[in-house]
Amino acid sequence: MKPWVLLIWATAVASYVVHDNSTCIIYPQSLAHNGSAVDDASSIHQAFDLCGTDGTVIFSNHTFHINSVLNTTNLVNCEVLLRGELSFSDDISYWRSHSYSVVLQNQSTAWLFGGTNVTLRGEGGWYNGNGQAWYTENRNGANQPGRPISITFFNSTNLLADHLTIIQPQFWATFVWQSKNVSITNFFVNATSDNQWDTTNTDGYDSWNSDILLVENATITNGDDCIAAKGNTTNLFVKNVTCHHSVGMAIGSVGQYPNMPDYNINITFEDVKCLNCMDGAYIKTWQGVWLNGTSNGDGGGGGHGLIKNITFRNFELENAGLPIQISQCIYPEADSKYCNTSKMRIEDVTWTNITGTSRYNIAASIYCSEAHPCPNITFENVNLRSVNQTKGLPAYGTPLQYEVFQCANIIGESSSGIPCNHVAPSNFSQSVYSNVK
Ligand SMILES: *[C@@H]1O[C@H](CO)[C@@H](O)[C@H](O)[C@H]1NC(C)=O
Ligand SMILES: *[C@@H]1O[C@H](CO)[C@@H](O)[C@H](O)[C@H]1NC(C)=O
Ligand SMILES: *[C@@H]1O[C@H](CO)[C@@H](O)[C@H](O)[C@H]1NC(C)=O
Ligand SMILES: *[C@@H]1O[C@H](CO)[C@@H](O)[C@H](O)[C@H]1NC(C)=O
Ligand SMILES: *[C@@H]1O[C@H](CO)[C@@H](O)[C@H](O)[C@H]1NC(C)=O
Ligand SMILES: *[C@@H]1O[C@H](CO)[C@@H](O)[C@H](O)[C@H]1NC(C)=O
Ligand SMILES: *[C@@H]1O[C@H](CO)[C@@H](O)[C@H](O)[C@H]1NC(C)=O
Ligand SMILES: *[C@@H]1O[C@H](CO)[C@@H](O)[C@H](O)[C@H]1NC(C)=O
Ligand SMILES: *[C@@H]1O[C@H](CO)[C@@H](O)[C@H](O)[C@H]1NC(C)=O
Ligand SMILES: *[C@@H]1O[C@H](CO)[C@@H](O)[C@H](O)[C@H]1NC(C)=O
Ligand SMILES: *[C@@H]1O[C@H](CO)[C@@H](O)[C@H](O)[C@H]1NC(C)=O
Ligand SMILES: *[C@@H]1O[C@H](CO)[C@@H](O)[C@H](O)[C@H]1NC(C)=O
Repeated sequence: MKPWVLLIWATAVASYVVHDNSTCIIYPQSLAHNGSAVDDASSIHQAFDLCGTDGTVIFSNHTFHINSVLNTTNLVNCEVLLRGELSFSDDISYWRSHSYSVVLQNQSTAWLFGGTNVTLRGEGGWYNGNGQAWYTENRNGANQPGRPISITFFNSTNLLADHLTIIQPQFWATFVWQSKNVSITNFFVNATSDNQWDTTNTDGYDSWNSDILLVENATITNGDDCIAAKGNTTNLFVKNVTCHHSVGMAIGSVGQYPNMPDYNINITFEDVKCLNCMDGAYIKTWQGVWLNGTSNGDGGGGGHGLIKNITFRNFELENAGLPIQISQCIYPEADSKYCNTSKMRIEDVTWTNITGTSRYNIAASIYCSEAHPCPNITFENVNLRSVNQTKGLPAYGTPLQYEVFQCANIIGESSSGIPCNHVAPSNFSQSVYSNVK
């Protein structure tokens, strides 16, 4: 403990929130409890109650233990400075029964954060989700209910998260929900497992029902979508993002709910590097009929809507499993016989300056649903070669010794710029583990 902290204890009568006018500085309880991991959630709530309107909340340069859910919403003109570590407990049974619902796919979150005119600034501090316990417990399973999104920016207008660092996120690292004008800049995420279980579902950034969004300057290491624009994401601009081990840049999945149409319009991904990603730049929709899935939020389909004006520009892919895809049957395991039924319309999508290497012999699989063939799908300067080809090696186990571009139901295919040389199967998976035969 530093001497000046002792001084504050003496003068502020062992308060964990030092409140001076509109500034609240938070200290962790562990300082007065021999370093033990006493929950700081109540001090944090106290600080936001005192300084969340027209004020500043400072997490001092110490480790905070967060053993219970945080709800710091409805902030107004508030600046939050993160100088310490926020260490979230890995008490799986606690979080599975207490995380706040975010409605979409029955998912939930450890921290609901937001308001009007809010800045969250990392000043040397970071969020530690202690996610290893989740990766190990989850055993590569999908969408476990109650497994919490690290931080959800909710119901916010004019929110900036700058220099936010999240390590070992429990689940999706960030989620922007029902918000407008939200920017996440100089953003860093690292989800890395230290055992045989992968970091499944650790999306870097997802957005839903939100408009006017920016993600600029990000480095994301994770085991699922790097950035995914889920339903009703409009006017999202993504610039200068490097993804490691990710699934890639995604629109979707959308069309999951029959009575909730999805409109994903005006989205640009620009200056992206994807290293060892499964997918690179892709669009995924559900099939056109509702199918009951498991109880983990993965059931769905039958939703209608529109995906329009999407640009993927300046991508450098290295060893991508499936660099480019449109799938209208994203969970073909549900039942491939419905794969041509999707009610989501897809139009005006451009992939431009996409270069690098594919892990297998496939560059692109563009399958539009028979129910809605896609107009205005364009490739410009898409230049991908398989890793083997760059080494002068054959693509093993296949007669297709060239880069495969598989297509189906593209309106104006011959003027699309796509060198289609194969028919796209309706149920082609987003996860590819071998060459196309
Ligand atoms: C607290 O606010 C008062 C009134 O605005 C101001 O005079 C005073 O200097 C402030 N104190 C500090 C430490 O900022
Ligand atoms: C979060 O706190 C706000 C008060 O600021 C309250 O209105 C809201 O119901 C709380 N949300 C949840 C999910 O508890
Ligand atoms: C948010 O900031 C804008 C621009 O500074 C200001 O006009 C508006 O009044 C602020 N909103 C609130 C709720 O204070
Ligand atoms: C926080 O404290 C550590 C160790 O005391 C120090 O190395 C680090 O620079 C400090 N960070 C900030 C932002 O002051
Ligand atoms: C959402 O924010 C508005 C202010 O912009 C507020 O009036 C409303 O209560 C908030 N809703 C929730 C659920 O917090
Ligand atoms: C992510 O964390 C792992 C494990 O701690 C580390 O080996 C790796 O270097 C980190 N990646 C980045 C980009 O910092
Ligand atoms: C992105 O990073 C560059 C280089 O460090 C910097 O000039 C630019 O201001 C950053 N953008 C944002 C929005 O912070
Ligand atoms: C891109 O973002 C990274 C941080 O992820 C930053 O270091 C780099 O300077 C940025 N580059 C540009 C050209 O803004
Ligand atoms: C998307 O927004 C529309 C209104 O524009 C709404 O009817 C629909 O329910 C929203 N979809 C989802 C999935 O929330
Ligand atoms: C898409 O962008 C155009 C041009 O800025 C704008 O006119 C239109 O309203 C935007 N569409 C949506 C749904 O925001
Ligand atoms: C398409 O979206 C981009 C932003 O991603 C926007 O600049 C452009 O104006 C939009 N075009 C149309 C025709 O709406
Ligand atoms: C899905 O399951 C629910 C609950 O078991 C049931 O009520 C509903 O009829 C099922 N829907 C379909 C389309 O099978």
